[in-house]
Amino acid sequence: MTPPTVWVGADAADACAEAARRLAAAAREAIAQREHAFLALAGGRTPQPAYTALRAMPLAWNHVHVVCTDERAVPPTHPDSNLGMLRRTLLDHVEGIHVHPMHGDASDLDAEAARAAAELEAMIAQPPVFDAMLLGLGDDGHTASLFPGHPALDERNRSVVAVRGASATVADRLTLTLPVLRAARLQLVLATGPGKADAVRRTVAGDTALPIVRATADCPCTLLLDPPAATML
Ligand code: 6PG
Repeated sequence: MTPPTVWVGADAADACAEAARRLAAAAREAIAQREHAFLALAGGRTPQPAYTALRAMPLAWNHVHVVCTDERAVPPTHPDSNLGMLRRTLLDHVEGIHVHPMHGDASDLDAEAARAAAELEAMIAQPPVFDAMLLGLGDDGHTASLFPGHPALDERNRSVVAVRGASATVADRLTLTLPVLRAARLQLVLATGPGKADAVRRTVAGDTALPIVRATADCPCTLLLDPPAATML
């Protein structure tokens, strides 16, 4: 099993800027080769400075298509919404970009998962191949909304599934599945802060109990870290 490449920046801002640079470079290459760039972007707190940096980069935004790797079962106006966060940090600041949301506020999450999957598969392929994917890393090794031990991790046919009851603190969600994560042409895992150090250590060690390891093993993947997240390497 080939572990991800590890890149450690000067600080969290540097790691986020590197993520933005690599996303922009992958998008430019995809546009040059295939006229469109399909990006799957993580939610949560960590990547927000990366999206702010990305919006300042010169890109043919009208050739860029963005999907959240996952979405919480809340409306876009809710503070926990990944689409809402992406709008605030990126989408509302660039002209012409295309966004393909999973609708977290759908009354039937399973039907919404099927709809979102059909949209991505019609637009890209089955499974959808993203030109670049920015993944986050939970302290427990989850990524997107694929949590340790959850049945959603074993989904091999559908591109998007609903995730219920992943933990007491986690709202119901929608997520890209493992086959989609693993099909990406480029995976970037952005992890900063000391709280991620143990999950980073276990990721590099190839601990397959971690969803991030199953999502990235033997894939073109780079971990983008700040020094506190790399202290256990
Ligand atoms: C989400 C993300 C999730 C996230 C990790 C890390 O919707 O929460 O997609 O996988 O990347 O939970 O979150 P932080 O960046 O907030 O630590």
